[in-house]
Amino acid sequence: MGLVSRTTTTTTQEGLPVSVSTTVPKKKWSNLMPLFVALVVIAEIAFLGRLDMAKNAATVADLFYRSRAVVEGDDFGLEMVGGDKNLELESESCEEWLGREDAVPYSRNFTKEPVFVSGAEQEWKSCSVGCKFRFNGDRKPEAAFSLPQQAGTASILKSMESAQYYAENNIAMARRRGYHIVMTTSLSSDVPVGYFSWAEYDIMAPIKPKTEKALAAAFISNCGARNFRLQALEALEKTNISIDSYGSCHRNRDGRVDKLEALTRYKFSLAFENSNEEDYVTEKFFQSLVAGTIPVVVGPPNIQDFAPSPGSFLYIKELEDVESVAKSMRYLAENPEAYNQSLRWKYEGPSDSFKALVDMAAVHSSCRLCIHLASKSREKEEKSPDFKRRPCKCTRGSETVYHIYVRERGTFEMESIYLRSSNLTLESFKTAVLTKFTSLNHVPVWKPERPEILKGGDELKVYKIYPAGLTQRQALYTFKFNGDVDFRSHLESNPCAKFEVVFV
Ligand SMILES: *[C@@H]1O[C@H](CO)[C@@H](O)[C@H](O)[C@H]1NC(C)=O
Ligand SMILES: *[C@@H]1O[C@H](CO)[C@@H](O)[C@H](O)[C@H]1NC(C)=O
Ligand SMILES: *[C@@H]1O[C@H](CO)[C@@H](O)[C@H](O)[C@H]1NC(C)=O
Ligand SMILES: *[C@@H]1O[C@H](CO)[C@@H](O)[C@H](O)[C@H]1NC(C)=O
Repeated sequence: MGLVSRTTTTTTQEGLPVSVSTTVPKKKWSNLMPLFVALVVIAEIAFLGRLDMAKNAATVADLFYRSRAVVEGDDFGLEMVGGDKNLELESESCEEWLGREDAVPYSRNFTKEPVFVSGAEQEWKSCSVGCKFRFNGDRKPEAAFSLPQQAGTASILKSMESAQYYAENNIAMARRRGYHIVMTTSLSSDVPVGYFSWAEYDIMAPIKPKTEKALAAAFISNCGARNFRLQALEALEKTNISIDSYGSCHRNRDGRVDKLEALTRYKFSLAFENSNEEDYVTEKFFQSLVAGTIPVVVGPPNIQDFAPSPGSFLYIKELEDVESVAKSMRYLAENPEAYNQSLRWKYEGPSDSFKALVDMAAVHSSCRLCIHLASKSREKEEKSPDFKRRPCKCTRGSETVYHIYVRERGTFEMESIYLRSSNLTLESFKTAVLTKFTSLNHVPVWKPERPEILKGGDELKVYKIYPAGLTQRQALYTFKFNGDVDFRSHLESNPCAKFEVVFV
């Protein structure tokens, strides 16, 4: 870009006296003198042929013409002088102009120079950013899985355990200890690592006949827990809910069975986690879904977020709930239609919010880590003067065009979208995103991963658009623009604002 402006400057300087004498009245000459002087200076510097010097020259010119917003064309606002600039303005749209002016190249090409994480080499199908895991590379890793690290290498904490068992997994605690990147089951962590993935759980497997006499199956290997799961089990037994226990906790059945297969034969499954921690949902819950049995949950208070549909599970929030949950179990067991309703999602597919949550795992967590690191690296570079100088919007008359960047969650590169101030609403933003990605024949990242019957057609459907950089908890559950006004003020305060879109 620097090269382009320099060339323009030089050429125009040569043409300047001509266009001035023909189109600008004498009176204005004196006003333009400082500019003319500046241009001569610039031209001289430019002739030295040094790019960085030309950049300095641009700063000199800025002293005369600070506001590029007023000037609105190429550098230094020469259209005030000559007529040809206006011609160019007519033929070039704001979108074209922004596409050019905002396109400051990043210094690092991640294809040539992939993100390097010190860790065991891994296999994943593909990653939208160059990404290498290995123990010995030819350069310093940008991240590694331990503490402490040399300067310039980020420390990563990765764990699938609950923070109630391992206090260091608490995000605030991990940060205090010096971890830069936290990867836990928490959707508030930097790169969440959940138990679910489409590949691991055949979630749409058909429901099998419920042939067991006992109402529920339990696979609890350890009676000890940081919650009341043992008491809940005992309380359920006391209400005369018949439970076949295969785990070592209250075992009454031989545990040497295929767990998933066994679960399919029961109407209910006791999915009792070892702690009631937000987002901590393990295979106990997901296997119950695969098996087509209704999970009775002791665990995270936000288990609803992980459910395939609202009525698809029973939740024991506290011990006092046991009685009413037992009542629901009995009711469902005796009313086949009501029971079938609870499993309706098996026929109709899970909710969009469920898909939006678990689609995240369609992109391997190591790839998501690399995207996170590469995005941080770009964010840092965007603080440099070259990026700060991007116009990011273009005003013509009463209309302003905003340059916005959007990528699909789980991918790295951003696509450009332009929104006009006359039509600056969340709805038109959504439409613009759909139009853009449809025109690119974009295939959502989860497409290859989802079960065949949940893939849907080629049409894209937006679930959520949110500012890039939010945690998944914020993105999926807590963030929301407070109407169009809020959206507009976000664009004003975040030039070249970046967003992520989740398709479902
Ligand atoms: C990055 O490098 C790759 C491989 O050398 C090349 O194909 C690609 O065009 C480069 N991208 C940019 C933006 O320069
Ligand atoms: C459970 O069954 C036992 C024996 O059949 C009976 O004595 C008891 O009252 C029942 N308890 C409840 C809560 O139904
Ligand atoms: C359960 O409901 C689905 C439709 O939601 C239906 O196709 C199926 O036959 C029902 N099964 C039973 C056992 O009623
Ligand atoms: C507003 O923008 C959307 C897409 O961004 C477009 O589909 C729609 O036609 C626009 N409406 C008007 C009145 O320009």
